Amino acid sequence: MSTTKTTPKQVTVTGAAGQIGYSLLFRLASGALFGPDQPIVLRLLEIEPAMKALEGVIMELDDCAFPLLAGIEATSDLDTGFSGANVAMLVGSVPRKAGMERKDLLSINGGIFKPQGQAIARSAASDVRVLVVGNPCNTNCLIARSNAPEVPAERWFAMTRLDENRAKTQLAKRAGVEVAAVSNLAIWGNHSATQFPDFANARIEGRPVPEVITDSAWLTGAFIETVQKRGAAIIEARGLSSAASAANAAIDSLVSVFNPTAEGDWTSLGVASKGEYGVPEGLQFGYPIRSTGDSWEVVPGLTHDEFAAERIRLTTEELLGERADVAELLN
Ligand code: NAD
Ligand code: LMR
Repeated sequence: MSTTKTTPKQVTVTGAAGQIGYSLLFRLASGALFGPDQPIVLRLLEIEPAMKALEGVIMELDDCAFPLLAGIEATSDLDTGFSGANVAMLVGSVPRKAGMERKDLLSINGGIFKPQGQAIARSAASDVRVLVVGNPCNTNCLIARSNAPEVPAERWFAMTRLDENRAKTQLAKRAGVEVAAVSNLAIWGNHSATQFPDFANARIEGRPVPEVITDSAWLTGAFIETVQKRGAAIIEARGLSSAASAANAAIDSLVSVFNPTAEGDWTSLGVASKGEYGVPEGLQFGYPIRSTGDSWEVVPGLTHDEFAAERIRLTTEELLGERADVAELLN
């Protein structure tokens, strides 16, 4: 019998004492990211005032007796938090309140991501993958990435997966099918009210969505708006921003980076544009992505009609505006 032990993966979560952290950590520790044979160490980064609350979360993690949880490091020091990280999930930041757009958070949250990017470059493992969840996540990811030029651009992801999951459920409900029947759903652009959930290239049971849902007024109107404004609707209803669904999407995002994409399908991630589909280079832009598990590509060759092209233009403009607003934080 082999006694070889698998080396634990180091998984850093910032904002670990927050709402999303409270859903995320327990899923990570139970094996949702790397499966049932891969132990992990959780590296939990918080600001000093939240360390007491984090202690309570750690007591609960201990009380779960997760067999895969090989260790927990709680810290408010950036380099300790990111030390040896194979995965860094940047959640810690302030969520918006009712009536705000996510980009209104840039002046509050943007500054968090410059030193975190620098610390990731100094201290993370050479294979680190970074997922930015904290809003506005595309531009926060751009800030962190630009301050870590040593970490290849393709290792940085902004989370548009929650929007993909939301869009798939809306389409499935409308078509009266199971959500698993909806595939090829790309979120183009920003995780914001300008994002474009691309229904025309999406499929239901392998058929283009507009062939199955023939109500084009619904597709171009209520469907898009529901997905764009879902985060605000949850804040309105709950008095707090989405948390369990965000944690779920964060795990989905990384699972789709570390595993091959199903044949013919794609998934949604905000990645550093190399100019694909005419998007200015360097923006952290939501695209359809296909992964081999080791590397990934932006799915080439999709077409857009005038309506879609205009939506993509609008979300690109918004991201350009956000980039201009944080120029002093970029390297
Ligand atoms: P929360 O307020 O419950 O928790 C945030 C935590 O971050 C707090 O514990 C706080 O102490 C910590 N924090 C603040 N500044 C920090 C720093 N510099 N370093 C480390 N930790 C820090 O908020 P939440 O509901 O968990 O949401 C977190 C973020 O995720 C918000 O910006 C929210 O808008 C965003 N979000 C994004 C998506 C998405 O789809 N991309 C979805 C949901 C929420
Ligand atoms: C979401 O989409 O639920 C999050 O980005 C939180 C928010 O502010 O909408």
